[in-house]
Amino acid sequence: MPTLEEEISRRRTFAIISHPDAGKTTLTEKFLLYGGAIAQAGEVKGKRAKAATSDWMEIEKQRGISVTSSVMQFQHNGFCINILDTPGHQDFSEDTYRTLMAADSAVMVIDGAKGVEPQTRKLFKVCALRHIPIFTFINKMDRETRDPLELCEEVERELGIDTYAVNWPIGCGKEFAGVYDREKQRILFFSGETRGKKVNSMEVALEDPTLDETLGTEKAAKLRDEVELLGAGRDFDMQAVRNGTLSPVFFGSALTTFGVEPFLEEFLRMTTAPLPRVSDQGEVDVFSPDFSAFVFKIQANMNKAHRDRLAFMRICSGKFERDTEYYHVQSGKKLRLSQPQTMMAAEREIVEEAYAGDIIGVFDPGLFAIGDTITVPGKKFRYSGIPTFEPEHFMRVSPKDTMKRKQFIKGTEQIAQEGAIQIFKIPGAGLEEVIVGVVGTLQFDVFEYRMKNEYNVDLRMTSLPYDHLRLIESMDCHPDEIVLCTGAAVLQDFRDRYLLAFDGEWSVGFLTKHNPGLVLADTLSV
Ligand code: G4P
Repeated sequence: MPTLEEEISRRRTFAIISHPDAGKTTLTEKFLLYGGAIAQAGEVKGKRAKAATSDWMEIEKQRGISVTSSVMQFQHNGFCINILDTPGHQDFSEDTYRTLMAADSAVMVIDGAKGVEPQTRKLFKVCALRHIPIFTFINKMDRETRDPLELCEEVERELGIDTYAVNWPIGCGKEFAGVYDREKQRILFFSGETRGKKVNSMEVALEDPTLDETLGTEKAAKLRDEVELLGAGRDFDMQAVRNGTLSPVFFGSALTTFGVEPFLEEFLRMTTAPLPRVSDQGEVDVFSPDFSAFVFKIQANMNKAHRDRLAFMRICSGKFERDTEYYHVQSGKKLRLSQPQTMMAAEREIVEEAYAGDIIGVFDPGLFAIGDTITVPGKKFRYSGIPTFEPEHFMRVSPKDTMKRKQFIKGTEQIAQEGAIQIFKIPGAGLEEVIVGVVGTLQFDVFEYRMKNEYNVDLRMTSLPYDHLRLIESMDCHPDEIVLCTGAAVLQDFRDRYLLAFDGEWSVGFLTKHNPGLVLADTLSV
């Protein structure tokens, strides 16, 4: 029987981030294949597209998308690996950001033909906030891609992180011959479909003349030049990787499984076991036998018949055991977490035990809120909360039928409390008309759908032009007297703090110029 320390030490929990279509699903699938968690490629996607777990929200089924991020666990070479999927496409939401709070490191998948794309940039920013290690996988090398040096430079310039190429591609597209592993001084040869087959490799020093025979003089010369250029650059620095300031870069082709295994091996070598998280009573020892966790996501209504909610929590210390009494710090209540679940690929399973680093989903009787801490009775510390992320889309919302005022208020408040949307008051107005802010526009559809189905309220929704929101830190006049430009408005949150919504940075210039006493917070985070 492994000890608690051994179990925790073999955990690796990471998020996988990318812009849609870069190959995140394909890479995840190949990881799961290595771990034997799925039997064939296509399972992750197939399940997702068909939403085969039939009790998911109707809206997911209709669109064949996954509204909320999922967690997958697999075993590989003695490691227990948890992959947190971050939804992309139009299902991008605050949940995507929150998921990153539960990860210890991130894998950033970049399409070699496209480079850094907008969604990668957004997700990267959240990872950078937490200083977690970020690994770059430059994908689709079997296709025509951009120049690899240029891609690395773009990552550095656009994301403000240093890079270190662990391996280097030899050509791309039809000419793709494989990658050169800089440390081991060996070439891994690409041969189209490599799934399940051992990749041919050859140990060869760059100066060795056999390199010319094997690759051809032109390719060999190019490889020598490029690797020499890299050698003159930055050295590898493990500490910088762990601090999140240096990203190890790997080239490969997820679709053909080329470069996936070496990537996984290096990734496992460079990442650490779960690191301690900070609470209001200091760092909590990951290896302490006492269980503790925080809630990072609440998913409502997975099973419409039961109107249930699932709270996803990241275990930060100790061991979780089913049917044990735990303590919910925010409510001061003792509880047994019923039907704790974990995700194995696309299937859910009941877990009997789980360890620091793991993610579990538990049925939530309406008790939990995002950021809440669960501990063992007697321990009352709280993990530092999850930041509120700035909404980028806003709508003015009211019930179509004014008689439904009460249900409207109840529904908007409950859905906001789950963290699916953010709601704001219009100063001086009643609660039958509110401003709803979201990170991804699909959240509006989910909100509208749930208001109708769960609260029986049809909504009137009008788009607003704002795309930024900042807390007002101080002002020297009454909020009514703030001079506004078109496309800006003063809002109030439910803690009665004033905020300013506006479109574009231009408005900030106008607002600060015309309101000299006005000071806005840099970010929305509380
Ligand atoms: P995502 O989760 O990041 O959105 O991307 P996903 O894995 O779904 O991949 C997007 C498309 O790119 C898919 O093609 C996939 O097969 C392809 N792809 C992923 N990795 C590679 C690679 O290494 N090389 C090449 N050439 N293609 C790759 P699709 O046609 O949109 O979907 P499908 O019908 O193939 O599933």
